[in-house]
Amino acid sequence: MDIKVIQALFLFVCFILSSFLIISTTRSRRRSHRTAATPPGPPRLPIIGNIHLVGKNPHRSFYDLSKTYGPVMSLKLGCLNSVVITSPEAAREVLRTHDQILSGRSSDNSIRSINHQELSVVWLPSSSPRWRLLRKLLATKVISPQRIEATKALRVNKVKELVSFMSESSEREEAVDISRASFITTLNIISNLLFSVDLGSYDSKMSNGFQDTVIGLMEAVGNPDAANYFPLLRFLDLQDNRKKTKEGCERLFRVFRGFIDAKIAEKSTRDNPKDVTNSDVVDALLDLITKGDEAELNTNVIEHFLLDLFTAGTDTSSSTLEWAMAELLSNPKTMAKAQAEIEHVIGQNGVVQESDISALPYLQAVVKETFRLHPAAPLLVPRKAESDAEVLGFMVTKDTQVLVNVWAIGRDPNVWENPNRFEPERFLGKEIDVKGRDYELTPFGAGRRICPGLTLALKTVSLMLASLLYSFDWKLPIGVGSKDLDMDETFGLTLHKTNPLHAIPVKKRIIN
Ligand code: HEM
Repeated sequence: MDIKVIQALFLFVCFILSSFLIISTTRSRRRSHRTAATPPGPPRLPIIGNIHLVGKNPHRSFYDLSKTYGPVMSLKLGCLNSVVITSPEAAREVLRTHDQILSGRSSDNSIRSINHQELSVVWLPSSSPRWRLLRKLLATKVISPQRIEATKALRVNKVKELVSFMSESSEREEAVDISRASFITTLNIISNLLFSVDLGSYDSKMSNGFQDTVIGLMEAVGNPDAANYFPLLRFLDLQDNRKKTKEGCERLFRVFRGFIDAKIAEKSTRDNPKDVTNSDVVDALLDLITKGDEAELNTNVIEHFLLDLFTAGTDTSSSTLEWAMAELLSNPKTMAKAQAEIEHVIGQNGVVQESDISALPYLQAVVKETFRLHPAAPLLVPRKAESDAEVLGFMVTKDTQVLVNVWAIGRDPNVWENPNRFEPERFLGKEIDVKGRDYELTPFGAGRRICPGLTLALKTVSLMLASLLYSFDWKLPIGVGSKDLDMDETFGLTLHKTNPLHAIPVKKRIIN
């Protein structure tokens, strides 16, 4: 064949192929644009949009609405575009497939009052270099495997103090406020990890007010606030949330500053840095500043970091413990089964250690079942789309708030058999875990924003629960039957039991 004919044929084939490519790309673009519709949602009222549908317990209202509008539902909350996710498949898309795009944060009014959105590992977007630095510090200095290992005796000692306190109440046959007692334990575990002191006291006369300030602060941040839906109202501070947050934080920062200054003074008298076994987190962070290893780190950043760790790490663990005890008191057979397992492993007069937990599969199942029914953060921490993303064929546009309703996923009858029953047996012999790989059970979130305190929280909750079940039998106060123990919830930064659980410990063995 003539060379010119071959060239002409070659050009013709190229032309056909490129035309085909252009047409098919344009079509598929059009198709994806067509299919990526706005997620369905309830009709909106002028100005307020869907705010009237939110209610006191948004996780419950959103669950009910999702039965009509599906697992990817859009809501307009005043000026705030929101998408609520209510199925494991959709959660996987948000927390894994589009994790990078959907890992921004929309900080609320009270957080802004102290400029915390600029400095906080919880509220900075994951695209921020400072967020990456703080996550690195968490993984290497604060909750690193070495530090978790080095502080295991500390946790056992703090739980022993909890058991001693319960033992005194047992002698007086007094009911104990489980939430308050376990909050003091988790507070002291965290405060010792961070700067080697107890900040909580079981004796209310000895209390320094720190624990009440942390609780008050979390209430102010978790309170509903009109300014979150209408930013123009911020300056009015209609619900006083900005004022309360500022006051609470100033009090906590004063306490932190006292410890930081004392450490700086002590450090100046020392030649070498302490090693990980006898240094705490603040020591380690101050060493980084002295060495000039992290230019971004200063005492102001450390104060905000400590604030995050106290607010994210105390109430979440203690309220999980309270829910576990409430469920076990409502299900006496389940409690007896968990107690029998612990006694079998520990023997008669021992002390539960963290290393025993791996030999207690039923106890672990009780903890998972508690997380399924009572996740401490039922909508996780709100995320924000940093650009457009398509979730199960629906378009989530830039700046939309994304809420993953893990509470609803935990109660979905399409996912769980008898979803409203407390049945730890469902987890026995199953691989499913809370560590962010199983999207039907993600109480700690998943992906890049997964809770960095997960390991510490699991250890603390399991150790507290196992120790309380090992040392005591538990009775409800006279007049409260296990059948009528209420499970009412109050939504806030953490999902609380509305009526604090009171129970009477009855000593089972000698407590050292
Ligand atoms: C039962 C206990 C706990 C539960 C259920 C829990 C749950 C969560 C959840 C759901 C998130 C948000 C994840 C997301 O955005 O997708 C989170 C974030 C966080 N948690 Fe926890 N948490 C617990 C204990 C702790 C502890 C003990 C600490 C540390 C001492 C901690 C520190 C944090 C921090 C710093 C973040 C923010 C991470 C970020 O936004 O990058 N948490 N936690």
